[in-house]
Amino acid sequence: MSDSDPKAIWNGRYARQALACDEDWLQAWDALLPRSGTALDLGCGDGLETTRLLDRGLAVTAVDISVQALARARQRNPQAQHRRADARELVGMADSSFDLVLAHLSLHYFDRADSLRAFAEVARVLKPQGLLLAGLNADDDVNYGAPADASGWGLTMVDGLPKQFFTEAKLLELLTATSLQAVQLRKRESLRYGAPKSLWELVARKTGA
Ligand SMILES: C[S@@+](CC[C@H](N)C(=O)[O-])C[C@H]1O[C@@H](n2cnc3c(N)ncnc32)[C@H](O)[C@@H]1O
Repeated sequence: MSDSDPKAIWNGRYARQALACDEDWLQAWDALLPRSGTALDLGCGDGLETTRLLDRGLAVTAVDISVQALARARQRNPQAQHRRADARELVGMADSSFDLVLAHLSLHYFDRADSLRAFAEVARVLKPQGLLLAGLNADDDVNYGAPADASGWGLTMVDGLPKQFFTEAKLLELLTATSLQAVQLRKRESLRYGAPKSLWELVARKTGA
């Protein structure tokens, strides 16, 4: 694995320091979140959001590509299941097994083909009528690398990592290609990294009975 491998970069970051941020953005979606059942925290990082899902009564499986992130997350949330997995191939996760998939800032590292794979995996592991709640880089996230024109699917290198910046049209294309239906899509400004960060918050439901 080279130093430019995203896994190595994330491992290096989590080995140096915790990255979780106290901003409780989930609170705004409280009414939509289930209070029982199963949740997948996809790209869980050091696990602060896993804690918030556990606090709401959900049985949580937390996954990340970084073993260093998972080491921190396990320490924070011993009552959750933790697995190393790539969002594009959720090995070992059964079809239709989650009521909720939370993917906060973890699904915007891929080109079109890999984004389609990751969204298809989310749809596969969600139960029918299950919800995806995702936070994703927005096309106008200029403080954190958004290009002048984000309408194409090219990736932008930011601090050594390839990043995708989403227009509404690109997100809707991903939903249309999978069995996910938009429930809400809105932009939010986050202050978790200091300067304002523009991101999409997406809620989508898996169709079917
Ligand atoms: C910006 S951090 C967000 C962490 C956490 N969700 C939060 O909001 O604090 C992005 C996370 O996604 C993970 N990640 C990046 N690429 C991934 C992939 N292909 N599959 C699974 N996780 C990935 C990283 O290791 C990192 O923990």
